[in-house]
Amino acid sequence: MGLTTLITGGSKGIGYALADQLAQRNHNLVLVARNQSPLQEAADKLRSKYDINCRVLAKDLSRQDAPRDLYEKVQAEGIKVDWLINNAGFGGAGRFDQQSLDRQRAMVQLNATTLMELTHHLLQEMLQRDRGRIMNVASTAAFQPGPNMALYYATKSFVLSLSDAIHQELVDTNVTISTLCPGPTSTNFHERAGTSGRIINNSFLSMSPERVAKAGIEGLEKGKSVIVPGFMNKAGAIAIQFVPRSILRKIVDYLHSST
Ligand SMILES: NC(=O)c1ccc[n+]([C@@H]2O[C@H](COP(=O)([O-])OP(=O)(O)OC[C@H]3O[C@@H](n4cnc5c(N)ncnc54)[C@H](OP(=O)(O)O)[C@@H]3O)[C@@H](O)[C@H]2O)c1
Repeated sequence: MGLTTLITGGSKGIGYALADQLAQRNHNLVLVARNQSPLQEAADKLRSKYDINCRVLAKDLSRQDAPRDLYEKVQAEGIKVDWLINNAGFGGAGRFDQQSLDRQRAMVQLNATTLMELTHHLLQEMLQRDRGRIMNVASTAAFQPGPNMALYYATKSFVLSLSDAIHQELVDTNVTISTLCPGPTSTNFHERAGTSGRIINNSFLSMSPERVAKAGIEGLEKGKSVIVPGFMNKAGAIAIQFVPRSILRKIVDYLHSST
């Protein structure tokens, strides 16, 4: 019997690439996203390629009651989650004051609160078994403030800070928590965020979701705390530490302007 991994946002993009590469490693999967039909398509594709079980759950995780509901559903179905990947997230380009408060609230709920609650619920079970792995998907956005995408960057800083701290709290256990910090990746994310055509998404810098997923899984298997896929992203993450914040925010402001 393979391990079971629950992936939020597992129907597309980085989440689907993670699902595919874990299925290849014989993991059974629970994929969660809002829309049933892409979830079903993803599951059918994975089941036809690999000899695994794949359960899909359609749920809007930007709703306040969603993480509790999802956890209860998984428990009620008797699913033992060995690995949890909190990947679902979205961004929004533009000035903070000009974005709708409802959309911003949904972003905080999905990117930060739901991730925190699912981590809390499933970590308890993993600690009881003294076995398990969690990966929370942040971004290289976590390393600096992000003018014109301020709240998205802030949610990703939250994810990195929370997960990195919990990583240290777990050092004497057999449970690990990792934070995956991808840079620009070619997925549907940019269409929803309204960031297509920005300098930051220059195709030269952009990675494929498959490469991001590969680096993520390798880091997760090693129990690394912070995983930054790709040489350019790693170099950027190191260089940023030597740049004053007053300059950093101007650079990000420039990168978010149109090409
Ligand atoms: N692409 C990038 O450049 C990039 C860079 C750094 C970090 N990231 C992070 O990587 C993660 C995955 O992004 P991606 O690029 O793979 O995006 P994507 O291609 O847009 O995929 C997002 C996935 O999340 C699901 N999802 C979105 N909103 C949801 C909600 N409210 N409830 C449940 N599921 C939801 C989507 O399915 P439905 O639409 O059907 O719900 C889809 O499966 C995100 O956390 C993102 O912030 C992305």
